Amino acid sequence: FQGGFTMNNLLMEVENEIAVVTINRPKSLNALNSETLAELDQCFSEISRRKDIRVVILTGSGEKSFVAGADISEMVNASPAEGRQMGLLAKEAFLKLETMPQVTIAAVNGYALGGGCEISMACDIRVAAENARFAQPETGLGILPGFGGTQRLSRLVGKGRAKELIFTCDQIDAEEAYRIGLANKVVPQTELIDYCKKMAAKIMSKGSYAISLAKEAINTGMDTDLSSGLTLEADLFGLAFSTEDKKEGMTAFLEKRKADLKDF
Ligand code: CAA
Repeated sequence: FQGGFTMNNLLMEVENEIAVVTINRPKSLNALNSETLAELDQCFSEISRRKDIRVVILTGSGEKSFVAGADISEMVNASPAEGRQMGLLAKEAFLKLETMPQVTIAAVNGYALGGGCEISMACDIRVAAENARFAQPETGLGILPGFGGTQRLSRLVGKGRAKELIFTCDQIDAEEAYRIGLANKVVPQTELIDYCKKMAAKIMSKGSYAISLAKEAINTGMDTDLSSGLTLEADLFGLAFSTEDKKEGMTAFLEKRKADLKDF
């Protein structure tokens, strides 16, 4: 696993502490089957252990689709138990993605439908190419979102908008996704990965350990009451005072020079 690797349905390349993970099933527009979910799970476990990776960019192969959803040809004959198993597999893999200490950016290079929208929402930040399209089309297939859509979409864009998107199956473009807060930025398709790498470089110039603590405070805080969230924040704030980065960051400010932050 040193450096990058190739799996049946995934590629990972690591350069300058940035891992680019590409879901690679172009013939089915990068739809997620069980094998791909299992590979993503393995890949996310591996990344969260790696000290040489500070930002992860998740994208799909080709110029048309990020991920066109769960694999319908696999689901068509699946039993209720198999459907539930797929949902639980995605739950575990996407939770690893959501809670890994590294910063994760979804580079949405086209269709992000169903499970595609759902995996993008487990990333910290979504950058959409101008041709990106988001939707939760599941109710039109007689099912409901099963890889986190009913939970993460409402947390990101609010209950009313999440219900509208899930009940109508409407496809929205990148600008509309930006307007409702589903996409953080919209950039031309040709500039998508470069833009994400520039954002990654900016993030990596800050304290990586401090960012991982902030991520934990935000993620955990969103799922708890305000007082508990504030106590967690105070605890993690205190923990950050133990780091070399804190000493360097504050000393650099007082000495009027640029801080050299690196701790992870
Ligand atoms: N599963 C399996 N195969 C898929 C797929 C999917 N989700 N999406 C696309 N494909 C396959 C197509 O079957 C087609 O294969 P063939 O060439 O063998 O026929 C190939 O990818 C290319 O697709 P199209 O010919 O349909 O391409 P298009 O440009 O005409 O349309 C599209 C593109 C609008 C994305 C269309 O493919 C589409 O609507 N895909 C399905 C989207 C969808 O419903 N996703 C939700 C799945 S359910 C889900 O995700 C549940 C959950 O919550 C986890």
